[in-house]
Amino acid sequence: MITLDTEWLGEPAGSGEMEKALEEAALAAGILESGEGPGGEFTGWVDLPERISGTCLGEMESLAAEIRSGADALVVTGIGGSYLGTRAVLEALGSDFPVYFAGRDLSPESLGELLDTLRDKRFYVNYISKSGGTLEPALAFRFLKKLLQEQVGDNWRSRVVATTDKSRGKLRNMAQREGLRSFPVPESVGGRYSVITAVGLFPLAVAGVDIRALVEGARAMRKICRQPDSPALRYGALRTLLKDRGRTIEVLAVYDPSLEALTGWWKQLFGESEGKDRQGLFPASVTFTTDLHSLGQWIQEGPEVLLETVLEIGSADRDLSVPAEENDDDGLGFLEGKSLDWINRMACRGTLDAHRDGGTPGIKLSIARKDAFSLGGLLYFFMYACGVSGYMQGVNPFDQPGVEAYKKNVFSLLREDGGK
Ligand code: PA5
Repeated sequence: MITLDTEWLGEPAGSGEMEKALEEAALAAGILESGEGPGGEFTGWVDLPERISGTCLGEMESLAAEIRSGADALVVTGIGGSYLGTRAVLEALGSDFPVYFAGRDLSPESLGELLDTLRDKRFYVNYISKSGGTLEPALAFRFLKKLLQEQVGDNWRSRVVATTDKSRGKLRNMAQREGLRSFPVPESVGGRYSVITAVGLFPLAVAGVDIRALVEGARAMRKICRQPDSPALRYGALRTLLKDRGRTIEVLAVYDPSLEALTGWWKQLFGESEGKDRQGLFPASVTFTTDLHSLGQWIQEGPEVLLETVLEIGSADRDLSVPAEENDDDGLGFLEGKSLDWINRMACRGTLDAHRDGGTPGIKLSIARKDAFSLGGLLYFFMYACGVSGYMQGVNPFDQPGVEAYKKNVFSLLREDGGK
């Protein structure tokens, strides 16, 4: 379901060193599974794929069917873990229903543009906030609710679905008071680990994604992750080992622009989970071959601080073969009839070789297909590996204390400054 290739590591880890790292990864996985490590109260996602019931999925599917048949669009309103997983899967798989995103920034231009687009549309809002009090989605919701009221008056309530904590928080209070339809976010699952809950599954069902296959994929990957020496443990072990050797930046490289949003989800997952107590690899991303013409130089010959992790998909959904060209002006006649997917793969191989030779170690992760099952597995794989890596580095992978500092400043400025 997922393979991890170490051919491009360059200077290999001494076998003793790798064995030790793997032992530590297995210990970390044990702590993750037991729920007794730091932040253990937020490890409810670990066995969730096995626990999600068909009834629960059915409820999401039936409300999704109502929206798909009766509306023109869904607006997912949330930030961070409340939308990144949905966007990652949607961009990778495509959607047969229009889904917009709001509440992920404070730009009046982007929100204004969205409101203009929605003005003559019949839309639903899925307001997603576990805490229920996050500034960006709360402000966006004010505007969306106002537009709904202008369109349908008091019926705005039937157009809003709240996804939030089961019993607490401002959004739960509003949902109860207004009688909104809602889905709970399990208390034991934090935002960036919540894609396989209603946070991701409900909007994905609206978009037409097979959410049962996604959960099945996560379930299958969970079995794999629990095996000794699993790819998740090896990935966690390798990246931690390399970090200890000074590789403090991990670049996730994809060769398909539809996976760019997945790299955004991955950056949040690892960044917020590991970057504390002066630990963590800084998560960056590149889309190749595009970025070979911008950041490739740095990766090849910049400071030796990078680890390059490539995510490869077994075969492209669509392929093209290079057409014949009478005059061969570009000198590429030798590629006539060749598959563009194969050329992309050769670019990947050649680039990994070059980067390794230039001193940047590479890890290649491959999944067979870009479908709901494989993506469910991949998301679970990264979450598990992240929990393992976090515990290996001695941090709590499930809190984000540093995010509070900026919020405090922003709120005090908003209250004290008076504004325009
Ligand atoms: O991973 C996290 O916990 C965060 O990124 C949250 O998802 C993000 O801050 C949004 O929080 P909330 O869902 O409470 O609005």
